[in-house]
Amino acid sequence: MNSSVDTVRPLVWTHQGLEVLDQRRLPDEVVYHTYQSVDQVAEAIASMQVRGAPAIGIAAAYGVVLAARDRFSRNPLSWRDGLETDLGVLAASRPTAVNLFWALDRMRAVIAALSDSSPNPFEPLEKEAIAIHKADIEANLMMGHLGARYLQNASGILTHCNTGSLATGGYGTALGVIRSSVAERAKAVYATETRPWSQGARLTIWELNQDKIPATLIADSAAALLMQSGRVQWVIVGADRIAANGDTANKIGTYALSVAARHHGVKMMVVAPMSTIDWKTASGQEIHIEERDSAELLSEKFRGKESVISAWNPVFDVTPAGLIDVIVTEKGVVENPSMEAMRHLLG
Ligand code: MRU
Repeated sequence: MNSSVDTVRPLVWTHQGLEVLDQRRLPDEVVYHTYQSVDQVAEAIASMQVRGAPAIGIAAAYGVVLAARDRFSRNPLSWRDGLETDLGVLAASRPTAVNLFWALDRMRAVIAALSDSSPNPFEPLEKEAIAIHKADIEANLMMGHLGARYLQNASGILTHCNTGSLATGGYGTALGVIRSSVAERAKAVYATETRPWSQGARLTIWELNQDKIPATLIADSAAALLMQSGRVQWVIVGADRIAANGDTANKIGTYALSVAARHHGVKMMVVAPMSTIDWKTASGQEIHIEERDSAELLSEKFRGKESVISAWNPVFDVTPAGLIDVIVTEKGVVENPSMEAMRHLLG
């Protein structure tokens, strides 16, 4: 790995607990909180301190380690009692990113395999959480390599939301492909602002700046004009949940980008690890789209007037597979995704 283009880590596991980089405070300040309980980790996910589908899954895995450590220290003989409730607290933190539920299932399998006479559940669970974390970074590096091949002739790329080191174990999904491709040949990188939480303006631009990759910020509403200008050939995004037919839930605004991209002959790439594919969900229509508090959307001007001004705040949307040119995973790429094409990933 070229470490000069990947210096940020959102989650650090230590003997004290899980260190979480509070993304709400970026880019103004870099503050890590150390969390030692499952409730704190669930709250960190729900309150957007940690965001991005893979990072949420990794945080949840460490949350299970903390839960088991706590249960075991209080009652070594029946540490399993109440553990499923702890997993439920993590599962309730955010609904759309499937990596959260995938990681909990991985941890559940380790818990189930441990015998009641296990001396301590902490070590095997810690080992699994670290393995999930490491595998995510490795997957990102592989996706960076696979995705960059499509960009050899591109002079400009547009990305949406944050999909970099902050949103994953490290390196990033869509931003990982951008890192790999920029490392090979300089390209113009554009990032949308990503209203209302401004992941693009606050996180992507900050992260690229940390790693000395030049990028240009645009308002979300400037994306179609950018495409019309001919300055970008690819839109590259991550995913929070990909259905078995390739329909992709990602940050609100991704669907609009895909429609504009198709109109302008710009290609659309989704980059996500296998842990983001939800094989049990047949199509995007079944994906639960998180709707957050309308107060997040109402600007300072309207604060206090919530009772008279309403706002609708869905934070993800679904891009139909038909508007996606390629899905990149660590197991391979799927061009023109469909139920049948996606199945090749399982082979
Ligand atoms: O609400 P967020 O910030 O958790 O949403 C993040 C996104 O939508 C990302 O694009 C997605 O999780 C992919 S992250 C590699």
